[in-house]
Order: sequence, then structure tokens, then C-alpha cells
Amino acid sequence: MIDELRRLREEALDAFASARDVGELERLRVRYLGRKEGLVSGVLRRLGSLTPEERPSVGAAANRARKLLAEALQDRLSEVTAARPATERALDLTLPPRRKWRGTIHPVSQVIDDIWRIFQSLGFARARGPEVDTEWYNFVALNTPLDHPAADEQDTLYLAPGLLLRSHTSPVQIRTMERYPPPIRILAPGMVYRRDTYDATHTPAFAQIEGLVVDEGVTFVDFKATLAEFARRFWGPGTQVRFRPSFFPFTEPSAEVDVKRVIVREDGREEETDWIEIMGAGMVDPAVLDNVGYDSERYTGWAFGMGPARVAMLRHGVRDLRLFYENDMRFLGQFT
Ligand code: DAH
Repeated sequence: MIDELRRLREEALDAFASARDVGELERLRVRYLGRKEGLVSGVLRRLGSLTPEERPSVGAAANRARKLLAEALQDRLSEVTAARPATERALDLTLPPRRKWRGTIHPVSQVIDDIWRIFQSLGFARARGPEVDTEWYNFVALNTPLDHPAADEQDTLYLAPGLLLRSHTSPVQIRTMERYPPPIRILAPGMVYRRDTYDATHTPAFAQIEGLVVDEGVTFVDFKATLAEFARRFWGPGTQVRFRPSFFPFTEPSAEVDVKRVIVREDGREEETDWIEIMGAGMVDPAVLDNVGYDSERYTGWAFGMGPARVAMLRHGVRDLRLFYENDMRFLGQFT
């Protein structure tokens, strides 16, 4: 049996050496080292037919042969796998690369952040209010009776009688003034909802930024100068600002604010853009101050509301507002 083992060992080692792939080596493993049918196990199984004196040395030789063959098989297996051509290993060079996905700030949020930094440096605090609000905060306290045409224009989704999705960020003015005494200087970005058609310049849900200043001795000059300063910091020193008379129930007088920017063309020449409307604004109507219990004889203020998505459209030359709200990563991923 010792001879038989030696023969088996040589035969197996030769077979391992000439094996070319993993499958062949596996077949050889079963043939020589398999627990049930393997040839080495077969020898061990026949130990019983030996005399008690012969058994230990043959048994030990069989175990040694098994160990040696197992090692040799393992070595050959490593050689065979290392030698395989690259395409056969799990590496398929024809696959497209796996990209690392890195998040970016949404272009509208970037605009909000940039606007916020400017107002923060002018002494404004950040404020926020709920997106579900009441008729009182959204309309009535803002001097907009429910049967007023301005309420129609901002018709929105009602969740229950008197409870609605806010149609602008202006209710944050009321909520802030109810909670804090003057002076007030706040910036309040947030989402608002309207029954607008979904088109290139309207989406039924969109971001707004509200601003409010109330203090003693605040004048129309503060209003115009601060907004002009903001516009020049945001769009550049050459930016011109225009205040067009308008109407909002909660401001008197009211204005729509336009900017005319200077852009540098590719050939280096400077060019003025058309006037572009950026916000609604005005001096806070005394009735609004009365509604929150402020002394409207003593305090005055100004306010504005603007759409950062429109600003983002201008900034990036995007023609369709809907792109910002469709969550298409091919579009949003470009604003790093
Ligand atoms: N809330 C107005 C709107 O959504 C925008 C606005 C206009 C806000 C004038 C103001 C303001 O604070 O003073 O159309």
C-alpha cells in the first residue's frame, strides 16, 4: 500500500502540473482528495485489512500524501488563476466606468445661499414659517380681504376650511412680527404653492425669498438704497436698478424692482441686458403693522418678495423653469 500511495502521489502531482484551469483542478481534487470516492481516501478505507503492526505507518503515509497533495493543488490553483488573461478575471474592460456620485447643491438653493450671505452681512436674521398656513396669515393679516382680487390671483390648495398651502412667503412677516418687537430685519426663504399652470415660467410649487425691515425712522430711501446695494453685490457693480409703481395689498407704495445687468461677452466687450423684473416690494402698509399690534405711527418698514428660481434662470441662461424642479440629474449635476 505504501507503494500504491507513492504511485498515486506522483500521478496526482503530474496531473496537477499539467492542469490548465480551475475546472480541471477541481476535477482532480475530487479524483484524488475527495472524501468519499477519492483515491487517497480509498487507501485509508482499506487500512482495516492490514495487520495492527502495519496500520500506523500506512495510515501516517496516507495522511502525509493527502496533506502534500492538498498543498500542491492549492499552489497550482493560485498559478492558474494568476495566469488567466485580464478579460477572464472579473475585469471587463468594455464596461462603462462606475462613476463616483457626489452630491451638489441645487442651483436654486445656491442662489438662496448667495442672496442670504449678502443680507446676512447687512444685518438680517433668517426666519421661517410653515408651508401649511391659515387664511389669516396668508391673506387677512396681510391686508388682503378674501374677496379681494389679489386673493383670487393667489388661489391655492385648501387642506381644510381656513387652512391652505401658503401662496407666498409673506405670512412669515406676520408670524415674525407677532413674536418679536421691532426692530425687525429678516430674510425668509421657503416653498410656496399656487394654482399656476406648469409652463416655462411657472410651476405650482416654487421657492420664494421674503425680506422685511421694520424700525423707527425707516424710509423709502432705506428701501431703495438697500435693494440697490443688494442688486449690485449680487449682479456686479455696474447693475442698474429701477422701481416701477405697482400694487400689493400689504405695501403702500408698492413697486416692482427691475435690474439691468452688464454682461461681459465672449469677445470681452461689455453689453447691457434688458430690464428684468426680480421682485415685488414696497413700504409696509400701516394696516399690516396695526394687525400685529405694532404702533404704525411710530414704526415704518419695507418688504420684498422674490423668486430665486427666476434668478437662477438668469444666472445660468436656463430658458425653462421646469428644469429646476424635475430632478433630472443630467441637468442638476452640472451646477457644481
Ligand atoms: N408676496 C408677493 C407675491 O408673492 C411678493 C411680495 C411683494 C412680497 C411685495 C413682499 C412685498 O414682501 O413687499 O407675489
